[in-house]
Amino acid sequence: MAIQFHGFLPFYFLFFFSFLWLTCFSIHKPEGVGICSSVVQPVGYKCEEFEVTTEDGYILGIQRILEGRAGGNGTKRQPVLLQHGVLVDGISWLLNSPEQSLAYVLADNGFDVWIANTRGTRPSFRHISLSPSDKAYWAWSWDELAAHDLPAMIDFILKKTGQKLHYVGHSLGTLIALASLSERREVDKMKSVALLCPVAYLDHMETPLGIVAAKVFLGEILSDWLGMPEFNLNNKKISNFLSKLCSANPGIDCNDLVISFTGNNCCLNASTVDVFLKYEPQPTSMKNMVHLAQTFRDGILRKYDYGSNVTNFERYGQHTPPVYNLSNIPNSLPLFLGHGGKDFLADVKDVEHLLDNLKFHDPDQLSVHYVQEYAHEDFVLGVSAKHMVYESVMTFFRDHQ
Ligand SMILES: *[C@@H]1O[C@H](CO)[C@@H](O)[C@H](O)[C@H]1NC(C)=O
Ligand SMILES: *[C@@H]1O[C@H](CO)[C@@H](O)[C@H](O)[C@H]1NC(C)=O
Ligand SMILES: *[C@@H]1O[C@H](CO)[C@@H](O)[C@H](O)[C@H]1NC(C)=O
Ligand SMILES: *[C@@H]1O[C@H](CO)[C@@H](O)[C@H](O)[C@H]1NC(C)=O
Repeated sequence: MAIQFHGFLPFYFLFFFSFLWLTCFSIHKPEGVGICSSVVQPVGYKCEEFEVTTEDGYILGIQRILEGRAGGNGTKRQPVLLQHGVLVDGISWLLNSPEQSLAYVLADNGFDVWIANTRGTRPSFRHISLSPSDKAYWAWSWDELAAHDLPAMIDFILKKTGQKLHYVGHSLGTLIALASLSERREVDKMKSVALLCPVAYLDHMETPLGIVAAKVFLGEILSDWLGMPEFNLNNKKISNFLSKLCSANPGIDCNDLVISFTGNNCCLNASTVDVFLKYEPQPTSMKNMVHLAQTFRDGILRKYDYGSNVTNFERYGQHTPPVYNLSNIPNSLPLFLGHGGKDFLADVKDVEHLLDNLKFHDPDQLSVHYVQEYAHEDFVLGVSAKHMVYESVMTFFRDHQ
């Protein structure tokens, strides 16, 4: 008996402590219930957190800033959903001052602001049955973000507000929307769609690190070189992999990852970038990175390529992955397209390719806004972005209610 007890004691302790740890974790550091209290409320805005479960079981954290600092003044506010890009989460809309950050600028200008966080990021890392340590948890690419995350969030907002919404996507947030709209999903739930730094095509991508990484992803990840389903820049194996890439490719400046990936942003505030790097990068799935690399390689927007026509056939009923035909986006859908001359990721030539797909779009419903000196991150973090971009976005929203 004594021996038995002795043997079980450590086990009980372990169990107890894991339980305690898990309890503390979920009560005091509930991932996804924290952006409001740690970031938004301190600068004077009311903010609410919600959880939305996708059809395939991911539990997404979503924040709402219902009114500006001056209050709501009783008017009905139009909902706007902000969808961040890859390797970041919704916090990236909130890091400059309230006069400069898009989420606050919208709230102070009478909009009802909703902030998305895609699966796998810190506010949205939970799943009804899987855990991030399961391989199956990471078995998705931007196909699933378009097919599951986006509709779950949009339907939730629609239900809460009873209104169609305006959408702002940055980078991968534009790709998700374009993919979805090209399948004519969500179209009737959107008042208008603003795409900042659209990345439907990546074949002119100029970021040297991106190009090298894309080639490596296509060659080696598929043969399971890294052997892990999660892509997390904070992971030692991944950062070693990047430094190896850097030393093997002298053309890449790895001292500044932000520049290497996104271009020479003109207008970032150094202290904001420091804060940004405290929260980001966020993990994503290896499959998502491989899918982006395929988009870069193929110069064509289509679903994830399983690399074998047999597997593709099993998945899709055809030997090659189905194409997202952007010409299927209804010509009457109000579209705002903002892009920059210094953007390494959303290259001007690739944006022209996208615009060529939209050449039959109703000219009254398509507004193209070009900022010569802006690179990729300026659209989210630029100190001048309110004046250079956001005011035009808000005018566009007001013109398309
Ligand atoms: C309420 O606020 C909005 C946005 O700031 C403004 O456009 C509107 O005129 C205000 N309405 C009233 C009744 O003050
Ligand atoms: C940059 O950020 C710091 C800290 O938030 C702030 O004090 C400063 O005014 C900002 N500079 C600009 C140009 O916005
Ligand atoms: C399937 O792939 C193989 C090898 O890659 C190729 O030889 C074959 O023609 C493909 N079949 C179809 C139907 O595309
Ligand atoms: C894409 O859609 C357009 C308009 O719906 C159609 O004319 C075109 O043939 C389609 N392209 C492809 C490759 O399916």
